[in-house]
Amino acid sequence: MPVVKRPIGIFDSGFGGLTVARALFDLMPAEDYVYIGDTGRYPYGSKPLEDVRGYAEELAHSLIDDFDAKAIIVACNTATAAGLDDLRAGTTVPIIDVVAPGAYALVSATRTGRVGVIGTVGTVSSGAYVHAVAAAAQQSSETVDLTSAACPGFVEFVERGQITGDEVTVLAERLLAPVRLAEVDTLLLGCTHYPFLARTIADVMGPDVVLVSSADETAFAAKDQLHQLGLLRTGGSVGSRRFLSSGDVDSFRELGSALLGFELDRAERWPIRNSA
Ligand code: DGL
Repeated sequence: MPVVKRPIGIFDSGFGGLTVARALFDLMPAEDYVYIGDTGRYPYGSKPLEDVRGYAEELAHSLIDDFDAKAIIVACNTATAAGLDDLRAGTTVPIIDVVAPGAYALVSATRTGRVGVIGTVGTVSSGAYVHAVAAAAQQSSETVDLTSAACPGFVEFVERGQITGDEVTVLAERLLAPVRLAEVDTLLLGCTHYPFLARTIADVMGPDVVLVSSADETAFAAKDQLHQLGLLRTGGSVGSRRFLSSGDVDSFRELGSALLGFELDRAERWPIRNSA
């Protein structure tokens, strides 16, 4: 099959990457997609980054070897923060991540220069955003003051389908205190699960704070890169979408459909090979 007609592979620890998938489907509808949610091993955010790096490599190689993916979208900040250098060095397929596009969007959106990033413990402790935001600021000749906050517990709420309510609000008030105190004017949702909690996060942060999600920016970055490489599929027809999960497939179908707003009816099982 010509490379251009091969699918785009997407992965995340669970449902979070569906926020990125939706942006990709909207921007590049003619492409075929294969999405794997690693719900059998989620959450990634509280696991050692070395383990997460191994999961990411297994998922990416499966998308390339088993599904013939022409490009990989790492729709997970924690997997990106764990380090993609070995993966990139070991494959000729473009590997597109969510961290750099999110950092550029954050730096472009701020008015005061006081910016915040929230993410999993793994993402925040890796310092990935400190580097990515500094690089984005340097490239745009902007000066920014970054405050980061880890939000353990947010991902678990999303994976349970509990995206609003008092419990989420109480947790959000506690975890978002550092970025509120820093008076950021722009906050990057540095975990692909967090856009599902955007309403609560926006309520807690207040109307003057702009929330930035990396989903749209990542889709634009992916389109640019595919276009430059001559791999972009165009045309009128809508491509196929295939969803797989390493955990309970029934709940993946049910909750995934509810969160994404369209059917994951035919979601399939993706077997974990390297369970170490
Ligand atoms: N959605 C992922 C991220 O962007 C991972 C969340 C998790 O599994 O802890 O970081």
